[in-house]
Amino acid sequence: MNDILLELEKNPLTKQIATSIGIPLPPILKRYKGPWKERILEDKKINVGGYGKTIVQDILATTLLKAGAQIYIDPSIEQQVRSIYEEIRKGIGGIFLQEQEKYHALVFDATGIQNPDELKSIYYFFHNNIRKLASNGRILIIAKAEEDQKTIEGAVCSKGLEGFTRSIAKEIGKKGSTANIIYVREKAEERIEGVVRFILSELSAFVDNQVFRVSNLAKAPKEIPFYRSLDRKNILITGAARGIGEKTAELIAQEGANVILLDHPLAGEDLGKVAERLNGYPILDDLMDPESYARITDKIKEKFGKLDGVVHNAGITRDKTIANMKEEQWDQVLQVNLKAILGLNKSLLDNVLDDFSHIVCLSSISGIAGNFGQTNYSLTKAALIGFVKHLSEQVGKRGITVNAVAPGFIETKMTAVLPLFVKEAGRRLSNLSQGGLPEDVGQLITFLISPGSYGITGQVIRVCGGALLGA
Ligand SMILES: NC(=O)c1ccc[n+]([C@@H]2O[C@H](COP(=O)([O-])OP(=O)(O)OC[C@H]3O[C@@H](n4cnc5c(N)ncnc54)[C@H](O)[C@@H]3O)[C@@H](O)[C@H]2O)c1
Repeated sequence: MNDILLELEKNPLTKQIATSIGIPLPPILKRYKGPWKERILEDKKINVGGYGKTIVQDILATTLLKAGAQIYIDPSIEQQVRSIYEEIRKGIGGIFLQEQEKYHALVFDATGIQNPDELKSIYYFFHNNIRKLASNGRILIIAKAEEDQKTIEGAVCSKGLEGFTRSIAKEIGKKGSTANIIYVREKAEERIEGVVRFILSELSAFVDNQVFRVSNLAKAPKEIPFYRSLDRKNILITGAARGIGEKTAELIAQEGANVILLDHPLAGEDLGKVAERLNGYPILDDLMDPESYARITDKIKEKFGKLDGVVHNAGITRDKTIANMKEEQWDQVLQVNLKAILGLNKSLLDNVLDDFSHIVCLSSISGIAGNFGQTNYSLTKAALIGFVKHLSEQVGKRGITVNAVAPGFIETKMTAVLPLFVKEAGRRLSNLSQGGLPEDVGQLITFLISPGSYGITGQVIRVCGGALLGA
């Protein structure tokens, strides 16, 4: 399972030898460890730029300061935005004017950009500052949603910034840095808080090149805690005996949740160990059987009364080209990866899922880009992208969010058995030149299952290190 190039990078001697003979080594990513903190960006220096009549400056400044960051106003910042920050600075402090040698993040508030000439501001900001971005740094662009732009000029600027973000991500990936963009809808501005915290912190180490659309489709919860964000919430994780499901359960439990752990009876021993370690509630059942949906729901109702979130993680592969695929291989993949999710989800929604709960489905890059020998698997994973889009529209009024996570190449037992060539392609054909870890997927899921993500619904977010596949 080890990535030999990452091992070379970790040892100073082998690193020196490898670089002297021209082997490009992947960067070591800084990953967040332990429970989330209220001040998750403690002392991180963040350079903020912006242009025009922006719509998020107040919430951006307060978000960064509440999270413990130090804000540096870029000298190139336009006077209109600058005066807003200076006002905030007078009021609450924590905002500085002098330039720094290195910044943890470069954040550009582009919500005021209205026409292509004004895009020059983004050129100046990044041209002047990109060399000051520290390793494992973050670039974040915040733009107005295309739908809310009043003119064609404004709409093309919003859309164009996506291309800008995707390209700059490729320029900074070799240092372990990432670039992402938030599109914010009108009247959803305050909902960027949780998203900004997630993207700028080390929770998002392997989330690169992504578009986060913040809307007010889901009704807002009353409280949005960023410390013990899942305190006493009941969260079901399917396929929790190993791999991504196990790690996700651990991270969710760490945020204070009661974890309900489901897996196949054959995985009973492993599931028992996970349940013991996390003080979780194990359920053994087979999602191949449609009658399991009611059994699982009844158990949750009896033991907990209600559910606050579900992670539909259990999934299988039965890879064959369509010509060689047996009918049962088609049927099994469709049952576990799609029909069981639809059926179980309906049963949970009708009986135990509470208002303001969160639903996360595990999709895959194969569902976005397709993959040789995976017609069955890719169909189910693409179908889930449609599922979250349509269901989110139905349940938003109950404050329920529904999203999909699409992992790229993740180092698990499922990928360890792939041929070396396929593994190497999976790892290297990405901005960060390496595979992700189950915890990278788990952190994104934990964010999407917690209240701070309430602006994000109906979406698919990749956790792929900026994989070139399907980009
Ligand atoms: N590992 C990757 O690179 C990757 C990439 C993209 C998507 N994914 C998706 O992420 C999810 C987890 O992947 P993983 O790599 O951790 O897989 P895994 O095979 O390690 O774990 C899957 C778990 O689901 C359980 N499961 C399977 N069939 C079941 C059934 N009928 N009833 C109950 N439980 C069942 C298994 O027992 C297992 O514990 C899957 O949906 C997978 O498709 C993984």
